[in-house]
Amino acid sequence: MSYALLSSPLQGFTDFRFRNAQNKYFGGIDTFYSPYIRLNGKLVIKSSYERDLLPENNNTLECIPQVITNDADEFLFVAKYVQELGYKELNWNLGCPYPMVTKCGMGSGLIKESEKIDAILNRVHSESDIIVSMKMRLGYDTTDEILDVLPILDKYPIKNIAIHARIGKQLYKGGVHLDAFQKCIDNTKHKLYYNGDITSVTKFREMQEQFPSIDHWMIGRGLISDPFLPSMIKENTLEYPKNKMELFSDFHETLYQGYSESLSGATHILLKMHHLWEYFSTTFDNPHKVEKNIRKAKSIRNYEETVKAVFKNG
Ligand SMILES: Cc1cc2nc3c(=O)[nH]c(=O)nc-3n(C[C@H](O)[C@H](O)[C@H](O)COP(=O)(O)O)c2cc1C
Repeated sequence: MSYALLSSPLQGFTDFRFRNAQNKYFGGIDTFYSPYIRLNGKLVIKSSYERDLLPENNNTLECIPQVITNDADEFLFVAKYVQELGYKELNWNLGCPYPMVTKCGMGSGLIKESEKIDAILNRVHSESDIIVSMKMRLGYDTTDEILDVLPILDKYPIKNIAIHARIGKQLYKGGVHLDAFQKCIDNTKHKLYYNGDITSVTKFREMQEQFPSIDHWMIGRGLISDPFLPSMIKENTLEYPKNKMELFSDFHETLYQGYSESLSGATHILLKMHHLWEYFSTTFDNPHKVEKNIRKAKSIRNYEETVKAVFKNG
C-alpha cells in the first residue's frame, strides 16, 4: 500500500535549516509542516516566522505552514500572509499542550470549545479560499472531547485532520490512545492522519497493521532522534546505510554551520546544538554518555572536538 510520511512540526527543531538538511542527507519525508505561527495580540508576523517560510528557504521540499490561534481575524490574517508567500494550505494547531497556550484557550485547550471552533471555521471558509487542514489531540482532559468536534468539522471542506493520539493533560508523557484514535476513524467523514510515537520501523509496521485505512503518517520526535527513519520505513529495512556515521556527521555539520551563521554568540549556538543532541544522542550506542559529553562542552572549540570524537567512536 502506498502511503505518505510527514514531518510533524517541533518548535525550535524543525526549522527550515533542519528540514533542508534532513531532506538532503536522508530523504523519505513527503511533506514537512513548519512550527506554528503565533501572533501576540497584534496582526504582525515576526521576522523569524517569515524567514522560516520564505519560498527561497524551502525550495528543495514541500512545506505547509501552521497557525495556532482562537481568533478568526488572526487566522484570516495569517492565511492571507502565507498565501502571499505562495502557500495554498494552512494547518490549524489544536494540539499544543503547554499551559501558557491552553490557558488562553488555544492548542489542545480549544478542543472543548466546539462552538468557537465552528464559528472560526465558518468565517475562515466564507472569507478566504485557503485550504484548511487541522492537527489536534484527542482532547485536553479526556479522549472523548474530540467526538464533539468531529461532527462540526464534517460541515467544512477540511483537507485532513492529523491526530496526535494523546490528550493535552498528558503533555508528552504516557502512551498513545489507539482505541480512541479508532473511534475517531469511525466518527468522521474526513481523512485522518495518524501521529504519535512512531519511533522505529517496527513501530511503524505495527501501527500500519492496526490502522489499515490510514495512509498518512506523521513523525515528530522520531525524526529528530533518527533522521534515517523515514527512508528506512520506505525501503522497508531495519538496516542502516553502511556510511551511517558519515551521513550523520555531514548532516550535523550542515546544521552546525547554519546555526553558527544565523545565531549570535557561542552561548546561543551551543544551546541550540545541545537541544538537538538530546535527540541525536539516541542514535549512538551509549546515548547517556554522548549527551553528557556534549552538554559538558561549554566552548565552541570544546564542542567541535567532542562532536568529532563522538562521530569517530560511533
Ligand atoms: C519541543 C516540541 C515542539 C513542538 N512543536 C509543535 C508545533 O509547533 N506544532 C505542532 O503541531 N506540534 C508540535 N509539537 C508536537 C509534535 O509535532 C508531535 O505532534 C508530537 O511530538 C507527537 O508526535 P511524536 O510522538 O511523533 O513526536 C511539538 C512537540 C515537541 C516535543
